[in-house]
Formats: sequence, C-alpha cells, structure tokens
Amino acid sequence: MVTEMKSKVTYMELLKEDLVIIRLVPENGMPHYKTGQFLTIGLPIPSEKKIVRRAYSIASHPENRDYFEFVIRWVRKPLPGRVTTELFYASVGDTVYLGEPTGAALQISNKLPNGQKDNRRVICVGGGTGLAPFIAFAKHFHDTNDKREVVILHGASYVDELSYKRLLTDFENESEKRGRDQWNFRYRAAISRPKEYFNRSWNGHVGRVESFFTPDKKTGLSPVEEMVGEKITPENTIIYICGYQGTIDGVIEYLGPKGFVTEHEKKSDGSFAIKYESYG
Ligand SMILES: Cc1cc2nc3c(=O)[nH]c(=O)nc-3n(C[C@H](O)[C@H](O)[C@H](O)COP(=O)(O)OP(=O)(O)OC[C@H]3O[C@@H](n4cnc5c(N)ncnc54)[C@H](O)[C@@H]3O)c2cc1C
Ligand SMILES: NC(=O)c1ccc[n+]([C@@H]2O[C@H](COP(=O)([O-])OP(=O)(O)OC[C@H]3O[C@@H](n4cnc5c(N)ncnc54)[C@H](OP(=O)(O)O)[C@@H]3O)[C@@H](O)[C@H]2O)c1
Repeated sequence: MVTEMKSKVTYMELLKEDLVIIRLVPENGMPHYKTGQFLTIGLPIPSEKKIVRRAYSIASHPENRDYFEFVIRWVRKPLPGRVTTELFYASVGDTVYLGEPTGAALQISNKLPNGQKDNRRVICVGGGTGLAPFIAFAKHFHDTNDKREVVILHGASYVDELSYKRLLTDFENESEKRGRDQWNFRYRAAISRPKEYFNRSWNGHVGRVESFFTPDKKTGLSPVEEMVGEKITPENTIIYICGYQGTIDGVIEYLGPKGFVTEHEKKSDGSFAIKYESYG
C-alpha cells in the first residue's frame, strides 16, 4: 500500500526553461523527516491513466515546518520525461501526491563508531540538481547552530544553473561577519563549460566539480585543501556527494588513495568518510 500525502503547489520559481524551484505543502500537515532524505512526487499522467511517481531530494530542512522545497530539472532528451514534463506544466494551486520521506544514504553522520560526536569537517559535493540535499544540510546546520566546518561545492554547466548561489554566498558572508567559531561555512562553484558564450562573465573555478580535489603539481594541495588550509584526511573530514555516478567516481578516485572509504565499504572499526547518492 502506498502512503501518500495529497499536496498543493504553493510556489514555483523558474530559474530557466528547464530548471525550477518548487514548494509543496501537504494538506494534512508536514511529516517529520531527516536532513538529506528524498520522497516521491506523483502526478496523474493522462495518457497512461495513472499516477506516475519519481524520487526527488528534499532541498528544505526539517526545521522548516511550512513547506517542502525541491529543485527539479525538466528531462527532455532523448524523450520528454513523464513526471518532469507534467510538473513543468503545473501551476500554483495544483495538486500533487507526495510519498513518505525516506533514504539513509545522505543522512548526516553525527556519531563516530567509538560513540564520540562526529565533529569532522563536512564537505558536500553536488553535481547539478544534486545540490538539493546540501541546501537542506546548509540550512539545518545554520538553524541548529552547529559549529562544524561546512563546505559546499556545486558543479554546473552554466552560470544560471547555480541555483542557490545567493543563499550560499549570504551564508559564507555571514560566516566571515560572525566569526568562524560561531558559523563556519564556505561555498564554491565550478562551471564545466567555461568557454561557452553564456558563461563569459565566470571567473571562478572551471571544470567539473570533482576537480576541486585534484592536487596541484607543485604544492600537492587540491583547491579545496588550499581553501580550508590543510590536507584533508578521513580523520578530519567527511565527504557527502550527490550527482552523476561519474561525479561520485571522480571524487573517490582522488580520495580513495588518501584512505577515504565509503559507508558501503566501512573499515573493520566501522569508520567511513564518504557518503553518496547517485542519480542512478
Ligand atoms: C534518490 C533520487 C533523488 C532524486 N532527486 C532529484 C532532484 O532533486 N531533482 C531532479 O531534477 N531529479 C531528481 N531525481 C531524478 C528523478 O527521480 C527522475 O528520474 C527525473 O526527474 C526524470 O523523471 P521523468 O518521469 O520526467 O522521466 P522518465 O519518463 O522517467 O524518463 C527518464 C529518461 O528516460 C528517457 N526515456 C523515457 N522513455 C523513453 C523511451 N521510450 N525510449 C528512450 N528513452 C526514454 C527520457 O528521455 C529520460 O531521459 C532523483 C532521483 C533519485 C533516484
Ligand atoms: N539524487 C538523484 O538521484 C538526482 C538528483 C538530482 C538530479 N537527478 C537527475 O539527474 C539528471 C541530470 O541532472 P542535472 O540536470 O542536475 O545535471 P546537469 O546539469 O546536466 O550536470 C551537472 C554537472 O555534472 C556534469 N556531468 C554531466 N555528466 C557527467 C558525468 N557522466 N560524470 C560527471 N559529471 C557529469 C556536467 O558537466 P558537463 O557540462 O561537462 O556536461 C555539469 O557540470 C536529471 O535527469 C535529474 O533528474 C538525480
């Protein structure tokens, strides 16, 4: 039996023709859930005469009891995706059906195997709309006054796909203002098609997002290590990744040799330093 929440679209912000931020509110109130989880959005597909459901990462944080937020790509190729095409025709006030929040792949590690608090630096790597769960992370850490060091790395093809640039820049500025002992947050973006005309104003990091982990030939430090001011190790850092399998493999290729193992392949003492969710 599918447990579903009848919900209303309350906000839609089209960032470009195929990228939308959307808020959904269940009629019978918000369920409790964990930061980093996803749920299914179901929509009736007229040609199939049934509700079709797809998984979407929740970009809002559980402390927000007002709405669920998502950032969704309209899948167009090779054929228009069924749910996303229908969703891009939806308007404020329309009904959709939400499944229960679920998923442990990107739940935040708060405890080490020895029972101590997991205070390691948190580095989140989001490819495209794979940024979504890390928006929930950033807001959750911020609103719960968590003192861990948090770094968010976002990779996109085009500058107008840096969907939460303003929020994340504001969080970093706040960190500078309040002091890193109070709120320790950094955000960096990578643009993978820097030569395209539309990206002509970009003067930040170029390449796919995993290139933040490429060590410099002279210093041996990667751009992310330069930024945080030390070598990252499984003892001082935990990495969360959401995106294409290529992004996940790319990050692991750099970090595996440094002793980082995934939660799926824990060390004998139960420790791990990488958690990920693949686009699948
Ligand atoms: C855990 C999880 C979280 C996710 N979170 C997000 C998120 O936050 N944001 C987001 O945008 N997406 C997210 N996704 C992806 C999402 O679940 C859907 O897969 C995506 O939106 C496409 O759904 P669709 O119904 O529009 O496309 P579908 O109809 O399922 O089509 C999928 C692909 O198959 C192709 N296709 C369909 N029919 C055919 C055919 N007959 N022949 C050849 N090719 C065909 C389509 O062109 C398309 O490329 C997530 C997925 C998972 C597993
Ligand atoms: N949790 C999930 O499962 C999840 C979450 C979000 C989205 N999705 C689904 O994933 C699909 C695409 O997502 P998107 O539109 O957000 O991504 P996108 O904007 O197409 O790409 C984002 C970034 O990933 C790079 N990239 C593309 N292919 C790659 C590969 N094979 N390996 C490594 N990097 C790659 C792109 O580089 P280039 O510029 O070089 O192409 C770009 O920099 C959509 O169908 C979406 O529905 C799934």
